[in-house]
Amino acid sequence: MNAKTDVLIIGGGVIGLAIAIELKLRSCQVTLISRDFQAAATHAAAGMLAPQAEAIPAGPMLDLCLRSRTLYPEWTQKLESLTGETCGYWPCGILAPVYSQEPRHSHGNGEAVQEWLDREAINLYQPGLGSEVVGGWWYPEDAQVDNRALARILWTAAQSLGVDIKEGVAVEAIQQQQRHVVGIQTKEEGVLQATHYVLAAGAWCHEILPLPVHPRKGQMLSLRVPNNIYSGLQRVLFGPGIYIVPRRDQRIIIGATSEDVGFTPHNTPSGIQVLLERAIRLYPQLQHYPIQELWWGFRPVTPDELPILGASPCRNLTLATGHYRNGILLAPITATLIADSILTQPDPLLEYFHYSRFYNSHPSTSKLMITHSRDAATISSAHSTEQPLDRPLTIAGRTFRSRLMTGTGKYRALEQMRQSIAASGCQIVTVAVRRVQTNAPGHEGLAEALDWTKLWMLPNTAGCQTAEEAIRVARLGREMAKLLGQEDNNFVKLEVIPDPKYLLPDPIGTLQAAEQLIREGFAVLPYINADPILAKRLEDVGCATVMPLASPIGSGQGLKNAANIQIIIENAGVPVVVDAGIGTPSEAAQSMELGADALLINTAIAQAQNPAAMARAMSLATEAGRLAYLAGRIPVKSYASASSPLNGTVG
Ligand code: GLY
Repeated sequence: MNAKTDVLIIGGGVIGLAIAIELKLRSCQVTLISRDFQAAATHAAAGMLAPQAEAIPAGPMLDLCLRSRTLYPEWTQKLESLTGETCGYWPCGILAPVYSQEPRHSHGNGEAVQEWLDREAINLYQPGLGSEVVGGWWYPEDAQVDNRALARILWTAAQSLGVDIKEGVAVEAIQQQQRHVVGIQTKEEGVLQATHYVLAAGAWCHEILPLPVHPRKGQMLSLRVPNNIYSGLQRVLFGPGIYIVPRRDQRIIIGATSEDVGFTPHNTPSGIQVLLERAIRLYPQLQHYPIQELWWGFRPVTPDELPILGASPCRNLTLATGHYRNGILLAPITATLIADSILTQPDPLLEYFHYSRFYNSHPSTSKLMITHSRDAATISSAHSTEQPLDRPLTIAGRTFRSRLMTGTGKYRALEQMRQSIAASGCQIVTVAVRRVQTNAPGHEGLAEALDWTKLWMLPNTAGCQTAEEAIRVARLGREMAKLLGQEDNNFVKLEVIPDPKYLLPDPIGTLQAAEQLIREGFAVLPYINADPILAKRLEDVGCATVMPLASPIGSGQGLKNAANIQIIIENAGVPVVVDAGIGTPSEAAQSMELGADALLINTAIAQAQNPAAMARAMSLATEAGRLAYLAGRIPVKSYASASSPLNGTVG
């Protein structure tokens, strides 16, 4: 990439700002959008630079943390000279007192310098420790920074360097095409575009991309040492379940709880009680100091508690999130490595933090995470079978793993239906309410034949010729779902079909019924002809999906409406489920390759010679088509292009 590269960064916390500054210093044009600067975990942190006190085990994460800690003096100096402000970097060392003699082994910090201190020695290092302290570790190279001052200085530095900072801008969606980000959709600024994008939105990343990053709440408080008192605290104390961080301005920061409660705000009496008890046990003098402030924040945590850094499923989107307890510490190294990966070469260390470790069951990837092998060749091959990151199918707030829906009609026997539904791996099964009501052939015993604790029922209004009839039957469908134990099932597949020959749906009746059912709280999945304008109108009135037909119901004619379905997919903000007419797995795959979100297939399975085998084939085809869509097909060319070119792309 050249010096004109323009980069858009999502996230105004320490990570986003540090990356913005680094890229700006390397001559990029940089825009940074931040939803709420003050909400970032950056402000809630204590500012410890504590790879050793945090007991991070030897391996790539410790390497990353130690490299970052080493960068800190120079990095903060640079920021201070850019802005004329200070950020309170203080290489004060960290003492980690313990209450029992047992853990006299080191924290496993590899080569990093550390020293064990017995009771007498630790009291020389830090007089006034609680009487239960029996010794502890001394980490002379761990340090601290005033994280709030750091946040301010980063903001000022970014502004003075000319980063275009847009505060109060929330991302609604990332627009993607063929594994390329083409724009960031925001409420406040419309669509923002750049050559390259960086996602650094901390615990909020999950709301933007389906990454496994979740909030881990931490409650904190600060005390103020009264003016006439010398607190005697000259270094950070990192005791069991508590840390006490003295600042040079008489404040003492105490933290932190670690709570898996989503984005539940506020301080709680029990959270603060625990912190105070532990802090006083460790350093009793604190009990007399006035409390200055209470606050909380949300650390971004991943399942393995390691960050996600570098590549993403889109070629021009880089990830920098999931720093969990170490965001402040890791800011300088993250900025350096992310800028390198965008502008030059990714550092091999980034491979350990690749997002695909959560999606790729390739054994060598997990082995890498344990053995910490540095062999770049092995690492790359581990990703050669990588699956693109996919989000689950989400309809009206419910998520589904399978993208194939099936039905219960037209089977020759109930047992065949049961086996086929199992073989399809589907999670949504549509049921014609009318046929159940009238005990139509094949529909007796349906409720008992399937395990409705595992399958989500999609009642459909098949057999209804008018909007009024469909509305009535939808209400019956809701009752039917309740009888099956699905109390909260408000789904309905809306079919208004006056035409018995081609079974084509009535667009006007469908729209009218949809509007009414939505008013009644239904999640409406309307069956429609492949009409892009109608699809949009239905989405606008609040339908949960649109379900265009590939060709007439049960006809097995395949994807006759591909061009219009393609337009519907392009325009849709709700899942597009291709429904009806698919006869073979190749047609199923083809529909998914277009970018459909899901398929509904009934007749082609139920009437096949071997329904269960066909169900499985359809399931594989749905998956293959989806994967091919995510993988990005080659463009169609008019002329041949040799498979073994002389100038290859592999060196
Ligand atoms: N860095 C300490 C914490 O997250 O509580």
